[in-house]
Amino acid sequence: MMLKLADIKKSYRLGPVDVDVLKGVNLTVEPGDMLSVVGTSGCGKSTLMNIMGFLDSPSAGYVYFEDKDVSHLTDSQLSIIRNQKIGFVFQQFHLLWRLTALENVCLPLLYRGVDTRQRIRVARDMLAMVDMSDLGDRKPAELSSGQQQRVAIARALSGTPSLILADEPTGALDANVGQDIMNLFLDLNRNHGNTIVIVTHNPNIAKQCRRAVRMRDGMLYEDWI
Ligand SMILES: Nc1ncnc2c1ncn2[C@@H]1O[C@H](COP(=O)(O)OP(=O)(O)OP(=O)(O)O)[C@@H](O)[C@H]1O
Ligand SMILES: [Mg+2]
Repeated sequence: MMLKLADIKKSYRLGPVDVDVLKGVNLTVEPGDMLSVVGTSGCGKSTLMNIMGFLDSPSAGYVYFEDKDVSHLTDSQLSIIRNQKIGFVFQQFHLLWRLTALENVCLPLLYRGVDTRQRIRVARDMLAMVDMSDLGDRKPAELSSGQQQRVAIARALSGTPSLILADEPTGALDANVGQDIMNLFLDLNRNHGNTIVIVTHNPNIAKQCRRAVRMRDGMLYEDWI
């Protein structure tokens, strides 16, 4: 399996009380899966995504990645896996404003120590994949929101991740542009074999995924939509 969560719990301490957000989540993601995670605002979707991407640790439970138990790895060991295997896409793109689109796409490779020529070569390929070849020299502020999200996706892809985690990737886009971005994810999944998990509020986006799960009361249920 690509990723497996086993009885994951997450509580936040707020003053004197513990808030139980995840109460025993089980989920297996297989290579090549494309699944959506839906649920009401505040139910714990981003918390779940952060645990799946090792940005946050669970209060209890086990996480397996590519068939290995990673629950007991240190933060620095987890950050190596994250950097090499996971690509993130966020609602607000999170591009660096001083850098060009191409330089943004190079970043994961820079962190990995890939040399400049190779970085630029890969980044150009990734920009081509998201249909942004002509705009690599622009800064994010000179791009539309849909174009910025394409750059963010190219950046996520540049590290050739095993798993792409997208937290409301179409949430800040109007419906047509959101669908363009969804089409890009569908193409990456179907034709390039990328494994993708998408958090969304939008049922139209959710139902285009092969599989959907719903968070409710701190638990996850398969959703047949
Ligand atoms: N660092 C934190 N400390 C305390 N509580 C937190 C923290 N982060 C999140 N929470 C709480 O955990 C719950 C789940 O938050 P989360 O961001 O995972 O929800 P979500 O499903 O992603 O919501 P949305 O759809 O609005 O993005 C919320 O009630 C939130 O207030
Ligand atoms: Mg969220």
